[in-house]
Formats: sequence, C-alpha cells, structure tokens
Amino acid sequence: MAKSKIALIGGGQIGGNLALIAAQKELGDIVIFDIPNAEGMVKGKALDITQLLPHGGYDSAITGTSDYKDISGSDVVIITAGIPRKPGMNREDLLGINLKIITDVANNVKKYASNAFVIVVSNPLDAIVYAFYKISGFSKNMVVGMAGALDSSRFRAFIAMELGVSFQDVQCMVLGGHGDTMVPIIRSATVGGVPITDLIDADRLEEIVNRTRFAGGEIVKLFGNGSAFYAPAQSAIEMAESYIKDKKRVIPSASLCEGEFGIDGYFIGVPTVIGSGGIERIIEFPLTDDENTSLQKTLGAVQKTVAETNL
Ligand code: APR
Repeated sequence: MAKSKIALIGGGQIGGNLALIAAQKELGDIVIFDIPNAEGMVKGKALDITQLLPHGGYDSAITGTSDYKDISGSDVVIITAGIPRKPGMNREDLLGINLKIITDVANNVKKYASNAFVIVVSNPLDAIVYAFYKISGFSKNMVVGMAGALDSSRFRAFIAMELGVSFQDVQCMVLGGHGDTMVPIIRSATVGGVPITDLIDADRLEEIVNRTRFAGGEIVKLFGNGSAFYAPAQSAIEMAESYIKDKKRVIPSASLCEGEFGIDGYFIGVPTVIGSGGIERIIEFPLTDDENTSLQKTLGAVQKTVAETNL
C-alpha cells in the first residue's frame, strides 16, 4: 500500500504535536507548512521529530516548508493556521484574523491538494470550517471540523477521573457547536456499558458537564498565552487515522448537515462515520425535547458567527 501524505497547515503548538503523533502512529509522510516567518521553526520541528524516529522504529519522512508546492498531492490536510485565544477571549473573538488566514489557506489547498480529506481545527471552529468549505468548493464529504472529538474526550476524561476508572471504558458523545453551548448527550454516556446516570448523581453530573463546556477556557487561563494543544492534536489525528485506514469510526465531528437533526446548511457537531470516503454518513437519532432545545441554542450561536463571515 502506498504511504499516505499528510500536510499540516500551521506548525505551531497543535501543528507540532500533530506531526509528532502522526509520526508515532506511522500514518504517512508529513509536511509541516507555515508562513515564511515561521519557516525555521517548522524545519526545526521536522528535524527534531525525525531524530526521535529511530527509538520507535517509526518510518516517516517529515519536512518543514513555507512553500505551498510541497503539499502537492496530499491525502490528508489538517489546518491549525491561525491565532489561538488569550485569557478573556472567546473563540468568536478570533474570527476576523482567522477568517483572513483561512481564505489564503483554502485557496492554496484547493490549488495544490484538491483531492485531500481536510480537517479544520482553527477557531472559531464551526465558522472557519464553513468558510473553508465555501472558499475551496470541496465536496462536503471531504471537509470536516475537529471539535466533538475533543469535547467528548474531555467529558470522558472528567468522568473517568470522577469514578476512578479507566479512561478507555468511558463512552460519551458531545454534539453541537464548539463553544459554551455544546450539547453533551448525558443519557448516552456509559462506563463499561453502565449508564453514568446510575453512577453519578444529577447535581454532580451537571458540574462535570459545565467543566466540559469551559474546559478549553480553563486551560487558556492556566497557560496565560495560548490554548490547549495536546488533546486537540490527538483528537484530530484520530479523525485522520480513521480516514487513512478506512476504520469507519463514529466520531462526533463538525460535518455539513443537510436536514439531519433539522439543521440545514451548517457545519455542526454530529456523530459522523469517517472512512476512506471521508464523511461517509451522519448518524441521526431521536433527541429528547431538552436536547433538541439545547441543539437549537447551539445552532443559533453557530449561525451568528457564520453570518459574520459574509460567505
Ligand atoms: N498560513 C499558514 N500558517 C499560518 C498563517 C497562514 N496564513 N498564519 C498563521 N499561521 C501559523 C502561525 O505562524 C503559527 O505557527 O499558524 C500557527 C498557529 O500556531 P499557534 O499560534 O501555536 O496556535 P495553536 O495553539 O496551534 O492553535 C491553532 O487551533 O485550536 C485552534 O484556537 C486555536 O485557532 C487556533 C488554532
């Protein structure tokens, strides 16, 4: 089987970790692209990661570049280009700058890697993935936003910590936008198959849900000068791996809804099957009235930010 080629657009905190994890999973050859000012940084990161490969017996070619030509023919493109939050900022505060950046990125990805499966990570996620889709003209099955994978992982981590059980044995799903209005589907969460509603009382669960909603902000506050990067990188790699290996994993992802869950024309977090066809299917299921109300609320927030893109 031919090796996959993975292009990382943006080689900052998340980009560097994407390269590291992709290399350690031997997902393919990796090109880290960044602007000319950051060329030395991405070339340095590529060399540094290359020099750890002998330890694990991993075989990947990793390069850094500021020339878009080098991403030619990529199978997967993961976009983290943009600025991250600082304390006191919402994800929405990033829209002005990151919209300009995604416009440039989308035009170049279209030019050099028009067959790639594209995973957008830059914030505000639901609007930036929408902008990429509109500007690039890519088909809807080849564009997705990374948010639910991270929000679900955060929720799972907090539940595992609460109950003192393996992180692996906690399952749950977070839908909706990547923001404070995200919608954790509590009734679907289980620990080793046991509903968490049987294990954690409602008040405590509400606290855990709230911590999940603001988990990104909790880290922004601790860092003081940037936002989370390890878990976002791992989350995006899970999605890329499912595409490259045709695993057909069901991952909450910001996918373009066209009628699913009563949403039309917006990217929003829904359970998504990712395989060699890209977004192969959105898994729709009946929501309770409360969940529906919450999803409409999150949709309103996404619509507001998308409207500001004027796309
Ligand atoms: N083209 C390519 N890369 C760019 C461009 C551009 N036009 N403009 C900026 N970049 C690069 C920066 O040079 C930097 O290396 O994007 C990188 C972003 O890295 P960080 O500042 O370290 O940010 P990071 O923590 O990786 O977050 C990236 O993902 O989760 C979101 O909110 C987060 O929007 C932010 C993005």
